[in-house]
Amino acid sequence: MISPVRTAIFPVAGLGTRFLPATKATPKELLPVIDTPLIQYAIDEAQEAGIERMIFVSHPSKSAIERHVMDDAKLRADLKARGKPQLARDLQEASFCPQTDDVVFTMQHDPLGLGHAVLCARDFVLPGPVAVLLPDDLILGQGCLAEMVAAYQECAAGHMVAAMQVRPEDTRKYGILSTTGRQAGQMIKADGIVEKPSPDVAPSCEAVVGRYVLDASIFDDLANQDPGAGGEIQLTDAISRGIDRVGLAGFRFSGHRYDCGSKAGMLRAILHLATHDPEYHDVLEEHGLRQSSAKAA
Ligand code: G1P
Repeated sequence: MISPVRTAIFPVAGLGTRFLPATKATPKELLPVIDTPLIQYAIDEAQEAGIERMIFVSHPSKSAIERHVMDDAKLRADLKARGKPQLARDLQEASFCPQTDDVVFTMQHDPLGLGHAVLCARDFVLPGPVAVLLPDDLILGQGCLAEMVAAYQECAAGHMVAAMQVRPEDTRKYGILSTTGRQAGQMIKADGIVEKPSPDVAPSCEAVVGRYVLDASIFDDLANQDPGAGGEIQLTDAISRGIDRVGLAGFRFSGHRYDCGSKAGMLRAILHLATHDPEYHDVLEEHGLRQSSAKAA
């Protein structure tokens, strides 16, 4: 698949305080959803969307992410020596090789916000629009970024954000779109975006989920962006500045989003996967989360 969106940025420098103490030594992006770390889902999604270059904006204390993402020849050799060649091949398949894969790690030393994290990737992006994936937002089912990249070609807007309806009391947790009401298919036309508004001032309940396809002018807007909500440089604010110039659209993705930045969201994602994998049906039955197949028959 040839994609007009060649670069994906993964902001992974955050401290993950909501998951302490689990994230004291383990980056939150490496927390497993059963057996696959969150970051791997986001990488797989970007690959499915035809992304050529992946840029990880990380933090020096989170070097384990790089160890997960990159090939480990020593581990593979050890596995082969122990008679596990298939496991070695599987690991190689799922990892990046520095010689052949286009992967960049750059550091965000200070927690200055999501917008600042994206700006840290500026010197490494390929020409054209860029994708941003927040690995905390796990989207299962149809690959969200691939859908967005396909829709982006038809879309008149330069900035496109994944969007979903939330309850009014939850607007303060998300970027919220101001929609113009004219909607076509999965596309939502928007003329504004605001970071984490309280319900009384939120322009809608159409919330931004962590997948973005952004016009390259986002970097100039980020470079000139003052701190916003929470004293951080917000990606939402820089998107907002570009609306008059490049336009903005929301995209109603087909998959199901899990907020794996929260413990309840992580549990929901694990239960979803367990429900769809017969290997875990006994466990679900033991906990009354599934009717036993004998009873159902
Ligand atoms: C970030 C963005 C927010 C977006 C959310 C999606 O917030 O700033 O606009 O709606 O991701 O998960 P965070 O959850 O990092 O506070």
